[in-house]
Amino acid sequence: MKKLLFIFTTASFLFGFSACSHKDTPNRVPALIPQPQEMTVGADHFTLTRRAAITLDTSNPQLMGIARYFNQKVAPATGFEVPVEKHGNIEFKLTDDAALETEGYRLLVKQGEISITAHQPAGIFYGVQTLLQMLPSEIKSDREQPGIDWTVPCADITDKPQFAWRGLMLDVSRHWFTKEEVKKYIDELAEYKMNVFHWHLTDDQGWRLEIKSLPRLTEVGAWRAPRVGQWWQREPQQPGEEATYGGFYTQEDVKEVLAYAAERYVRVIPEIDVPGHSLAALVAYPELACMQAPSAVGVGNKFYGEDENTLCVGKDATFEFMDKVLTEVAALFPDEYVHIGGDECFKGFWHKCPRCQARMKAENLKDENELQSYFIHRMESLLKTKGKKLIGWDEIIDGGLAPDATVMSWRGMEGGIKSAKAGHHVIMTPTEHCYIDLWQGEPSVEPDTYSMCRLKDSYRFNPVPDSVPAEMILGGQGNLWAESVPTFHHAEYMTWPRGWALAEVLWTGPTKADWERFWPRVEQHFVRAEQAQINYARSMYNAIVTPYYTADGTLEVKLDSELGNLDIYYTFDNTDPDRFTPKYEAPLRIPKNATWLRIVTYRDNQPVGKVITLTVKELEKRAENTRHVVGNL
Ligand code: ACM
Ligand code: ZN
Repeated sequence: MKKLLFIFTTASFLFGFSACSHKDTPNRVPALIPQPQEMTVGADHFTLTRRAAITLDTSNPQLMGIARYFNQKVAPATGFEVPVEKHGNIEFKLTDDAALETEGYRLLVKQGEISITAHQPAGIFYGVQTLLQMLPSEIKSDREQPGIDWTVPCADITDKPQFAWRGLMLDVSRHWFTKEEVKKYIDELAEYKMNVFHWHLTDDQGWRLEIKSLPRLTEVGAWRAPRVGQWWQREPQQPGEEATYGGFYTQEDVKEVLAYAAERYVRVIPEIDVPGHSLAALVAYPELACMQAPSAVGVGNKFYGEDENTLCVGKDATFEFMDKVLTEVAALFPDEYVHIGGDECFKGFWHKCPRCQARMKAENLKDENELQSYFIHRMESLLKTKGKKLIGWDEIIDGGLAPDATVMSWRGMEGGIKSAKAGHHVIMTPTEHCYIDLWQGEPSVEPDTYSMCRLKDSYRFNPVPDSVPAEMILGGQGNLWAESVPTFHHAEYMTWPRGWALAEVLWTGPTKADWERFWPRVEQHFVRAEQAQINYARSMYNAIVTPYYTADGTLEVKLDSELGNLDIYYTFDNTDPDRFTPKYEAPLRIPKNATWLRIVTYRDNQPVGKVITLTVKELEKRAENTRHVVGNL
C-alpha cells in the first residue's frame, strides 16, 4: 500500500496536508470508536512532547476545564503536563460555524500542530476524545510509560453525532455502587462520546438517594440483608437478621457526581421508580402501602404478587410523599428531565385496596391501568410545577399517556413507535439491543443472567424504525440492571464492549454501521481497556452453539462465531478441543453414546475463545426450546 491518504468517507476534503503527506510510508489508521463522520488520514504524524502547549481563550472556563481534563488523561502516562500558553501547538478554538451544532468538532492534526474547532465547548470535548483515542494505547495507563513516542497520525476529521441522547443506565439499587464507582462509569462512557447517565436510584432492593425531608428512605430503605447466590432464589431477610448490605448517596455526594459529569458533558437523569418497584420505600414508610408493607427490603428473593411493592394511589399521603421526593430531586439535579419509572407495576393490591378503588370511582377510572395513568399524570403536573419534564418506561402508555411525557421504550420498539406517532419524544432502549444485563455470548461460559444480547445485537440497533417521525426519537441508551451485577468490576464486564457498539450507532448513526469494520476496532480498544485496567468481555470470541432438530427428528448442532473468521474445533470424546482435534466444517450429528460436546475457537493457530462444554442433554433441551426457529437456520 503506497497510498498517501486513506479516505474513509464519501466526503473527502483534502486540505492542510502539505506538511503531512510527504512520507511514503502509510500511517497507522486510528481505531476510533465511535467512527467519525468524515476522516482522512495523512502519512505523517504529530508528536506530543514536553514542549507541547495548549492555546485557548483563557477567559472561557469551559475550555480551561477541557484543558485540565486533557492533562488528567495524558499526564499519568506521559509524565508531563501540557500547559496552557499563548502560542501553543495545540489549539482549542470556538468558532461561529453553526454547522458543527452543539456537539460537533473539526480536528486537524498536522505534523507541527493540532487544532480542534467547534461551535460549543462540548464539541471541543469530543474533539479531545478523538485525539486521545489517536494516541498510542499506553496513554491509558495510570503509570508513566517510558520510551513511548506519543504520536498522533495526521488527520482531518469533521464529526458530529446522529443522536442527541446517547446514554447508559446503571441500576444502583439491586447492588450498591459507590460514588467513586459511579464517577468511573461516567468517565468511561464519556470517553466514547456518550452524553447521558441515567441513574436508577430506587427500586425494591434499595433506595439510594438521600431525601432530607424523608430520612427513613435511606436510614431504612437503603439497607438489606447481605446475600450472594442466584437472584430470585435468595432467602429473604430472617427475623433478627441485620440489614448490613447497601448504602446511599448524600445530596453532597450527588453534587460531586453532577460536577464530575458536567466536566465530561454528561447529563445525569435521576430515576425515582414509582408507583411499582417501591418495596424499599414502603419498608421505610409503611403507611404508603395499600394494606401491609413488607417488613424488610428485598434481597433478591421472589416477592412479586405476594409482598406489596406499589405505592397506594388511593392515599393522599402518597402524593404528599412524592411532592417531597420530587421537590428535593428537582432542586438537586439540573437536567430538565426526571425519570419516574412507571414500569412493571403490579396492580393486584390496588385491585383489593378500598382506597385505590375509591379513588378510581371518584376519578371515573375504569381499571387499574387508568389508575396508574392517573398517578403518572399527577407526577407530570407535579414535575411541571418544579420546572421539570417527565420520562417514564413505556408502561406509562397503558391507560393513557400524560400530555408531555417522554417515553423510554424497553419492551421492544412498539411503545416508542406508538408514542412517537402520537407526538411524544422517545428514547429507544429495546431489550433485544440495549439490555446489557443479558448474556453476551454462550451462556454456559457467561456469568448468571437470562436471555441474550450479543455484541452484534447491540451493534444492529437502529433507534429510528421505518415510518417513525425521526425528529421524535431523541436517541437511545444501554441499560445495566444490576440483579446479577454484584461488583463494579462486573459492571464493566457487562458494559464493554456492548456500550461501545451502542456509542457508535448513536453517534455515527446506524446507516453507517459496518460490523466488519467495527469488531477489529473493538479488538484495539480491548488493548486500551487493558492499559486502563477497565474490565471488558471477550465473549465475541466464543463459539455460537445452535442445536436443532432436523425434519426427521435428528439432533444437529450448528457452530458459528460472531466474528465469522474464527476456526472452530470440537470433540465428542471427552478430551479438550484444540487445533489438533476435528475442525468444524458443517452441522454436527451426535455420535452414538456421546455425553459431551466440547468446543473452542482459534484464530491464526491461537485459541481466542473459552472452551465450551455442553452435555448432549443440554443440547437436546436447547433444541427442544428452539424447535420453532428451525426454519431460520
Ligand atoms: C424495565 O426493564 N423494567 C424497564
Ligand atoms: Zn391502595
